[in-house]
Amino acid sequence: MNKKIAVIAGDGIGPEIVAQARKVLDGVCEKYGHTFTYTDVLMGGCSIDAYGVPLTDETIEICKASDAVLMGSIGGNAATSPWYKLAPELRPEAGLLKLRKSLNLYCNLRPAYLFKELADSCPLAAKEGGRNFDLVICRELTGGLYFGERYTKVKDGVITAVDTAVYNENEIRRIAVKAFEIAMKRGKKVCSVDKANVLDTSRLWRKVVADVAKDYPEVELSNMLVDNCAMQLVKEPEQFDVIVTGNMFGDILSDEASMITGSIGMLSSASLSDGSFGLYEPSHGSAPDIAGLGIANPIATILSAAMMLHYSFGLLKEADAVEAAVKQTLADGYRSIDLMSRTGAEGLISQNCSELGDRICERI
Ligand code: IPM
Ligand code: MG
Repeated sequence: MNKKIAVIAGDGIGPEIVAQARKVLDGVCEKYGHTFTYTDVLMGGCSIDAYGVPLTDETIEICKASDAVLMGSIGGNAATSPWYKLAPELRPEAGLLKLRKSLNLYCNLRPAYLFKELADSCPLAAKEGGRNFDLVICRELTGGLYFGERYTKVKDGVITAVDTAVYNENEIRRIAVKAFEIAMKRGKKVCSVDKANVLDTSRLWRKVVADVAKDYPEVELSNMLVDNCAMQLVKEPEQFDVIVTGNMFGDILSDEASMITGSIGMLSSASLSDGSFGLYEPSHGSAPDIAGLGIANPIATILSAAMMLHYSFGLLKEADAVEAAVKQTLADGYRSIDLMSRTGAEGLISQNCSELGDRICERI
């Protein structure tokens, strides 16, 4: 199979982790006889440095002309980087939001599951029979508070900032459909998360999701308020299968979900549109504090590349092979620094970013 992949390495640890994912994809090509052609493009701070804007039209066009986009991370240290002295619409994050919108990537899947090899990195209280959760957050990605009108102005002599949360029924329906479709292939449970005791957008959300649920009688639907969900995730993540939620809540809950797996460096993500096109990036950020040190955990990006094989290319066997290689690497005791066990490092072998990429490649 021949596929074209646009690559946005981005800022911070982005180039380091993307290099490992490419190594793994090349390993897949070699083993299974595929050809992936990569086109490197800039987005985020590196694009600001090169072109004065975080995302150029050319980058958007190259992404559109590709079968999928592989991304690292963008952004820098907001306190020290000159990028954050620019107007908000010229900062690195604005590029990512514009790209998501331009490519209509409204469905963001963020799976969080506990590798049994990392069970001792899970910070949650022990549970009888051991912890064992496997959930996916289905986050709406092109609407809500992220894309409503926003401005800061002086009102009656007081500086006032406004952000607006907007959802229409069509935006809610299409993400709900995705969530139910995914649940049908998994545990057949959808938990819709909102703040319907306060927000109008949430009340509409609940109504539309309930309506979509009628087409999926096999799927059990529950509703949960977001504050309760934040608590339930650290109390009993085993109760969840698919969580469907809006853009802002999904952003927060997915960071929380990643941490209960042991490290934010483990959580992959796929941002999907209607067809097979998608953008694949780790859920974590650019970690400017460790950028360039070569110690970042590449696993979230490698697992994102596995999601690309699965969702954009339909290469299920290959995607499984990558996931299995990650598991085997962990089972063999190899760890990035963030994964060194909190209960003792006996038998564990610390690896830098590139070494861990190599260990995974060897096991494909
Ligand atoms: C994420 C990130 C982004 C978001 C930032 C970088 C704009 O936190 O993908 O979760 O908030 O969506
Ligand atoms: Mg986030």
